[in-house]
Amino acid sequence: MVLTSASSLGSPSSEPDLDSTEEIPQSVSSHNVILHRPRRLRRTETLRRLVQENNLRVEDLIYPVFVMEGDGNRQEVPSMPGCFRYTLDLLLDEVKEANALGIGAIALFPLIPVDQKDNYGTESYNPNGLVPRTVRTLKKAVPNLLVITDVALDPYSSEGHDGVVEDGEILNDETVAVLVKQALSHAEAGADFVAPSDMMDHRVGAIRRALDREGWTNVGILAYSAKYASAYYGPFRDALDSAPKFGDKKTYQMDAANAREAIKEVDLDIAEGADIVMVKPALAYLDIIYQIKQHTKLPVAAYNVSGEYAMIKAAAEKGWIDEKKVILETLISMKRAGADLILTYFAKEVALMLHH
Ligand code: PBG
Repeated sequence: MVLTSASSLGSPSSEPDLDSTEEIPQSVSSHNVILHRPRRLRRTETLRRLVQENNLRVEDLIYPVFVMEGDGNRQEVPSMPGCFRYTLDLLLDEVKEANALGIGAIALFPLIPVDQKDNYGTESYNPNGLVPRTVRTLKKAVPNLLVITDVALDPYSSEGHDGVVEDGEILNDETVAVLVKQALSHAEAGADFVAPSDMMDHRVGAIRRALDREGWTNVGILAYSAKYASAYYGPFRDALDSAPKFGDKKTYQMDAANAREAIKEVDLDIAEGADIVMVKPALAYLDIIYQIKQHTKLPVAAYNVSGEYAMIKAAAEKGWIDEKKVILETLISMKRAGADLILTYFAKEVALMLHH
């Protein structure tokens, strides 16, 4: 017995006689009609695109970049193949290329020479330091580029911590006072957004007040609100030579076991004046992204961090995974969880893929 044409999608004719059980197999008999066949919506590429719930857009991406002192030089980060620290002149080329691919925003991180590091992160608010110089150059050369600066002491700290250290303790309020100066120096240089990334208490409020007091009401705050004490930051610390000299970051960054606390941190940052809230890392914390998205009306950002990048690159280098497909699948999982924006070292690769 042959199934009638009703079984082949797209044919409008010959409705099966649902009352005749002899001619029709069980699956379409009157007693067992399958009304819902989700596969109908997956039949063709056009259909699949039509019903796609989430999508990745180049406009959603923020490209994190590393800048270092010097001229005409770039160094590949060993644990982040394809990612480089650039001197400003070469960074400019890189950023122009990214911008030409449709990437509208960068997040800037500096490699600070060891002899400029101290326990107070003094270099972090030098108005002629590496970051302010880079911001001025980038904003002048690519005015429509959105420049986001990292506000934290770790690249500047001789202790490799995100705060001023005293007797092994990371001091909160003393650190926030430095962060405020750092944020102001970035705003003066022309940064569009400052991104406090260290999880000190009340840094968002202190920075917002100082920015407003100095007239920088248009400078936004991208708050690393739920930032976890994560081993996924390893390659980034290689890139910036910023690993802690003692201990870990668990007295300020969050415990991976906690979710409610992430909501508390988000609430505080919103109350203190954050414009965008962020979850970091992204992949092991998709549930946090989801919960925060349900919780707030603010845009939610996700940071696809260095360790997540390195894992994909390493497996791809071994030929164990299809790199391009895994990148897209990984980033769409963040969108599905609720991320509006994604910081990713894959930004250029994704932009190229999306254009094809
Ligand atoms: C530190 C900072 C870190 C990252 C961004 N800002 C590392 C850390 O907290 O130790 C990590 C980014 C990444 O891993 O890609 N202020």
